[in-house]
Amino acid sequence: MKSIVLYSTRTGNAKMVAEAIASALPEGTPCRNIREMNESLSDYDCVFMGFWVDKGTADDASRKVLENLHNRHVAVFATAGVNPASSHAQDCLKNGASLLPEGKKPAGTFICQGKVDPQLIEAMYKRFPADNPHGRNPESEARHKEASTHPDAADLENAAAFARNVMNFIQAEK
Ligand SMILES: Cc1cc2nc3c(=O)[nH]c(=O)nc-3n(C[C@H](O)[C@H](O)[C@H](O)COP(=O)(O)O)c2cc1C
Repeated sequence: MKSIVLYSTRTGNAKMVAEAIASALPEGTPCRNIREMNESLSDYDCVFMGFWVDKGTADDASRKVLENLHNRHVAVFATAGVNPASSHAQDCLKNGASLLPEGKKPAGTFICQGKVDPQLIEAMYKRFPADNPHGRNPESEARHKEASTHPDAADLENAAAFARNVMNFIQAEK
């Protein structure tokens, strides 16, 4: 079975996760930024597609790829600024996966936290008042502090385990 790992990234978090996923797949599995790939996706049985969360769903570049993934098996992963156990993170993952072609269910999904661009944080602090969730307040500062160390080694291990689980799921399905 031929697999490929694709990702879209703005600041590198999704790339780190994509590389951890690829490292758990057979040697030589390509790992590509969607802006740079030259492979024909129809050559692959399984596509792992990763996005960064942009306003509650997949970033625009990922959206176009997700909408056109007709491969037999598709797995979806993401990084977001919030804790992956939060309902916001789970909604973001669902929103991204729902962009897959109609009727296509992912063979697995995974999300982990990723540090937020400090320039974006500053811009939000300037734009929003302190009583807004995006303004400077103890909650937002704690959230950004928590995110600042992610993806960490445990996230990358979890991403690799996710890749192995997807492969096992696909094998069991045959
Ligand atoms: C414009 C913009 C919008 C974002 N929107 C969200 C959001 O709605 N929810 C969230 O949890 N994180 C959000 N984030 C944080 C990113 O999803 C997070 O930092 C991610 O790990 C970035 O991945 P990357 O380094 O691969 O670009 C946003 C970041 C940017 C720049």
